[in-house]
Amino acid sequence: MNTSQSLRKEQEEQGGGASLLTVEDLCIDFFARGRRFRAVDGVSLELERGRVLALVGESGSGKSVTGLALTRLLPDPPQCRVSGRILFQGRDLSALSRKAVRAWRGRIAYVFQETGSALNPVFSVGYQIAEAVRLHQPRVRDVRAEVVRALDLVGIENPQQRAESYPHQLSGGMQQRAMIAMALACRPELLVADEPTTGLDVTIQAQIVALLRDLQQKLGMAVLLITHDFGVVSGFADRVAVMRQGRIVERGETEHILRHPEHPYTRALISCIPVLGSRRRRLPTIDSNQ
Ligand SMILES: Nc1ncnc2c1ncn2[C@@H]1O[C@H](COP(=O)(O)OP(=O)(O)OP(=O)(O)O)[C@@H](O)[C@H]1O
Ligand SMILES: [Mg+2]
Repeated sequence: MNTSQSLRKEQEEQGGGASLLTVEDLCIDFFARGRRFRAVDGVSLELERGRVLALVGESGSGKSVTGLALTRLLPDPPQCRVSGRILFQGRDLSALSRKAVRAWRGRIAYVFQETGSALNPVFSVGYQIAEAVRLHQPRVRDVRAEVVRALDLVGIENPQQRAESYPHQLSGGMQQRAMIAMALACRPELLVADEPTTGLDVTIQAQIVALLRDLQQKLGMAVLLITHDFGVVSGFADRVAVMRQGRIVERGETEHILRHPEHPYTRALISCIPVLGSRRRRLPTIDSNQ
């Protein structure tokens, strides 16, 4: 049995299909110059083991801060205050100390849209992946082999040599693959992929989405896919939650939402999916009061 099969078996034994993440009434407030700004307003989410939930919404709707709240990656008070419950494997992460949450970080891994800021330019990608392995899988003896395995898993050719490359020696798509390898090196049960294809050109975007989908199925991990693009969601996410101005305005099975969107905002987002051969002149706009 290879590593991914054994990981999957282990996850199934822990209760495949059971709820992995439950977010209840999450509110996130930022404070600046004596004023409060509510970025997330009563968001509740449910994600089962091995499933994919897409959080979709326009820029500034609160998607990233929701993802960051899962492992306390937001600024401390008084700059930012978070309330609500975040249950991961039945454990309330919001009640744990920051130090205790750090121990959970490997189980929830992130792939951010900005590989430039997430990869350190002064270390080789192999070194950076090795750091993640040492931190989150202290029992692994052959760290080098684990690094090569992770690079191989994300489709990087000649992983032995590529491990020696520095981020600037890799193309944008390769950097994103290296980021995914680093996240997977933690053997996460939940992968938060925050706009994993933004900034990449269209063909590379499709390759990265296909890779994530393939890895999700192979490893059986749950994915919280954060995107503004319904085109990325279709064929990948099982369920969708549509976010607008800090709130969930619509949610459901992906296929159902794509065919029968009820909220005008969801309809507007779906109508932005490019259709081959269509000649749309203007992007749709939406009344902010809707
Ligand atoms: N550290 C911060 N301090 C103050 N306000 C913040 C901070 N981080 C985010 N915000 C605000 O919270 C709101 C939600 O931001 P968030 O980054 O979650 O949006 P998003 O949906 O991820 O958008 P995008 O698609 O552009 O990434 C925005 O209005 C943003 O300006
Ligand atoms: Mg964002």
